[in-house]
Amino acid sequence: MPIDLSLTPHDEPARLQPTLRDIFYDLFERQFEGAIMINADGRVVWINDRYARLLGLHSPLDAIGLPVEALIPHSRLREVLQTGESILLDFMTYRHQVFVVTRFPIKDQDDRIIGAVGILLYERWEPLKPLMAKFKLLQAELEQARRQLGQSRKTRYSFDDIVGGSPACEDMKRIAQRAAALDTTVLLLGETGTGKELLAQAIHAASPRADLPFVGLNIAAIPETLLEVELFGAAGGAYTGAERKGRDGKFKIADGGTLFLDEIGDLSPGLQAKLLRVLQEQEIEPLGSNQLVRIDVRVIAATSHDLDCLVAEGKFRADLYYRLNVLPIRLPPLRERIGDLPSLCSTILGQIAERTGLPRRGVADAALARLARQVWPGNVRQLRNVLEQASLLSDSLVIDAPDLDRLLPDTAIGSTPVKPLAEVVAEAERQAIRNALAAVGGNKTEAAKLLGISRATFYEKWAALGLG
Ligand SMILES: Nc1ncnc2c1ncn2[C@@H]1O[C@H](COP(=O)(O)OP(=O)(O)OP(=O)(O)O)[C@@H](O)[C@H]1O
Ligand SMILES: [Mg+2]
Repeated sequence: MPIDLSLTPHDEPARLQPTLRDIFYDLFERQFEGAIMINADGRVVWINDRYARLLGLHSPLDAIGLPVEALIPHSRLREVLQTGESILLDFMTYRHQVFVVTRFPIKDQDDRIIGAVGILLYERWEPLKPLMAKFKLLQAELEQARRQLGQSRKTRYSFDDIVGGSPACEDMKRIAQRAAALDTTVLLLGETGTGKELLAQAIHAASPRADLPFVGLNIAAIPETLLEVELFGAAGGAYTGAERKGRDGKFKIADGGTLFLDEIGDLSPGLQAKLLRVLQEQEIEPLGSNQLVRIDVRVIAATSHDLDCLVAEGKFRADLYYRLNVLPIRLPPLRERIGDLPSLCSTILGQIAERTGLPRRGVADAALARLARQVWPGNVRQLRNVLEQASLLSDSLVIDAPDLDRLLPDTAIGSTPVKPLAEVVAEAERQAIRNALAAVGGNKTEAAKLLGISRATFYEKWAALGLG
C-alpha cells in the first residue's frame, strides 16, 4: 500500500498498519535520540517526542507544518530533498551538544522524492564513542587555537601594568605616552628583560589603533628563509610547499593596527632593503605576486643590540636605521632603577600568587637590600625568575635574605679578598655564565647571546671552568 506523506495530524500518522506502525515508533523512540520527517516541501510531517522536547517544544504537534529550518536552523534535510542523496554520517551541534545525524530521502514507487527523514543518533551509542571522542577533542583544540589567536591579536598590557616611579621609568613612560598619540614609527632600545614587549603593547593599547590588531614578530626566532613570507605574505603557489591559497604576512594581518618587530637588528640585508621600501611606500608585495597591496600599519621595532654600532660596522642599513629611529625610547636597565625594586617585587609576587593559587608572599627589608646589591643582567625578567624560585623553595610568607642567597649569583658590588688574577678572572667568568643562565632560565644559546660569545665558545668555557 502506498505511503501517504501529505500533511496529517500527528496522532493519525500515515495510515500504516497497526503492527508496522508500532514497530516503526518503537524503533525510532528507543533507538534514536530524535527523529524527524519532512515532506517534499520541506515541511515537518512528523517528529518524535524526544526530538520535540530537545528542541524545546511543548508538544510534537507544534512542529507539524513548519518549514524544517524554522525548527532546526542549520538543517540539511532540504539538501537531501534536492539531491535525493543520503547523508549517512554527519555531525550536528545544537545548543553546545554534538549529535551524530543520519539523513535519507523517502521515495515513492516511481522513485520520486516525497520527503526525507533525519535521525539523531545517541552520542552515547557504543559504536560511535571513538568517533565522538576524537571529534570532541578536535573541536576543543580548534576552540583553544581560536581563543589564543584572538588573544594574541589583542594586547594584554597597558601603561598601568608598567610598574615603576623612578625618574628613569617615569621619563620612559612619558615619552611612550607621547608616542602612543603620535602614530609614528617607534624604536624601543633596551637590554633583555627590560620590558620592550610590555611597552610596545602599552603603546598600542593607548593609541587610536587600540581596537585593531596588535601583531608581534620576533625576527631572531624565525629562520631567514621563512621570514620574507612571514612578513609580507605569499601569493598562491608562490613557493615550494606553499599552501595553494597563498598566505597573508604579518603586515597584512596587522593592517590598521600595530606591528611589533622584535630584534630588528637581526634582519638580513636583503630584508632590510624590503622593509625600508615598505615603510616608505606603505605598500607590500607578497612573494610571487607582482601586485602591490596598500597597508596602513604602525611599526614599533625593538632591539637589545646597539644599532648605532651595527650601522657603523655596516651590518645595518643607515637609511633603515634613520627611518626606524624617528622616535627612539630607551628602556632603563633594572640597575639604573633600583628604587623601583619594592613596587616591582610587590607586583610580581601578586602575579605569582594569582597564577599559582599560592598565598601572596612579601619581601623582608634585608632581602630587598640583597636584591638592590645585584647587577641584574637579565633585568625584570631575571627578577621575576628569582622571585618565582624563592616562592617555590620556601613556605614562608616572607622572602628573607637567606632564601635569596642560594638563588642569587654573587655579583654584589662589594669587597672581595685579593687573589691571583687568573683565579679572579676564572671566577668572574664562571659567575658571568651563571648569571647569564639565570637571566634566561637556563637556555645556553640565549645565555651565549647575552654574553656576546658564540655557542662554541660558551661550551668551551663551560668545560674549562668546570661548570659541567
Ligand atoms: N616596568 C615593568 N613593570 C612590570 N613588569 C615588567 C616591567 N618591565 C618588564 N616587566 C616584566 O619582565 C618580563 C620581561 O619583559 P619583556 O618580555 O617585555 O622584556 P623584553 O625587553 O621584551 O625582553 P627580551 O629582549 O628578552 O625579549 C615580563 O614578565 C614583564 O612583564
Ligand atoms: Mg621581548
